[in-house]
Amino acid sequence: MMTSMSKLIIANWKMNPPTLAEARTLLSVIKKTALVVRNVTTVIAPPTVFLQPLAVSSRAKRLQFGVQNMHFATMGPQVGEVSATQVREVGASYVLIGHSARRELGETDKEVTKKVSAALAAKLTPVVFVGERERDAHGNFLRVIRKQVKDAFTETPRSRIKDVILVYEPVWAISTASPRLRSAGTNGGITTNEIHQMTLFVRKVLTESFGIAMARKIKILYGGSVNANNAEEVLGVPGIEGAAVGGASLDAKEFGVILRAANKA
Ligand code: PGA
Repeated sequence: MMTSMSKLIIANWKMNPPTLAEARTLLSVIKKTALVVRNVTTVIAPPTVFLQPLAVSSRAKRLQFGVQNMHFATMGPQVGEVSATQVREVGASYVLIGHSARRELGETDKEVTKKVSAALAAKLTPVVFVGERERDAHGNFLRVIRKQVKDAFTETPRSRIKDVILVYEPVWAISTASPRLRSAGTNGGITTNEIHQMTLFVRKVLTESFGIAMARKIKILYGGSVNANNAEEVLGVPGIEGAAVGGASLDAKEFGVILRAANKA
């Protein structure tokens, strides 16, 4: 089991807030907690257009920035896209890859793998999201996760495998998931026991692929409705080394509670 004490908390702001002024205010309040919690690295993933103005105002080891997506090409005719080098240049150290919202728009496992290697080549830390849309009584959803995990690494050199971070985020557990998807999960909400089982499963898949020593070095986070009320419990699950937080990261006070819970976990 992982022994490292420090937790990684990723704020995925998605397409929020609407204005740069609001983004600055949100960041300035979050910063107050993020800079004092010693055992936590906080990563803010704002809308890409807000990255540079936010990132220039705060350079600290404990507070880093990321983007929610990027293209795998280094440059070229990809209209409306940004590359790993470009986002790195303006302040990103992390990139979220394969979030279910992107997969829903057509992102494939093949593209995910290419983005992972492009991120590593540009010195960004790739954070790969895996998770099933729905559960089924026969456990077929485990196959989906196995494939997503394995495919994420197919172009990753062995020496860089440990630099990839995985987030287990069941799509049905995301706070904004449709009620239909939510009820296709278990009990409409995930239990800490289930999070633990899935962490063990992901670690098992990694072990099959890379051996136990390497598998242990890969950080696994949890995502899906992490909030002020459940953060302590979720972050206390053995093997969980952090969380991806969507909705609750837009409320600076609530996010502060999550950061403090992570600091204690
Ligand atoms: P949520 O979103 O915390 O609002 O469920 C998580 C995510 O989509 O990464």
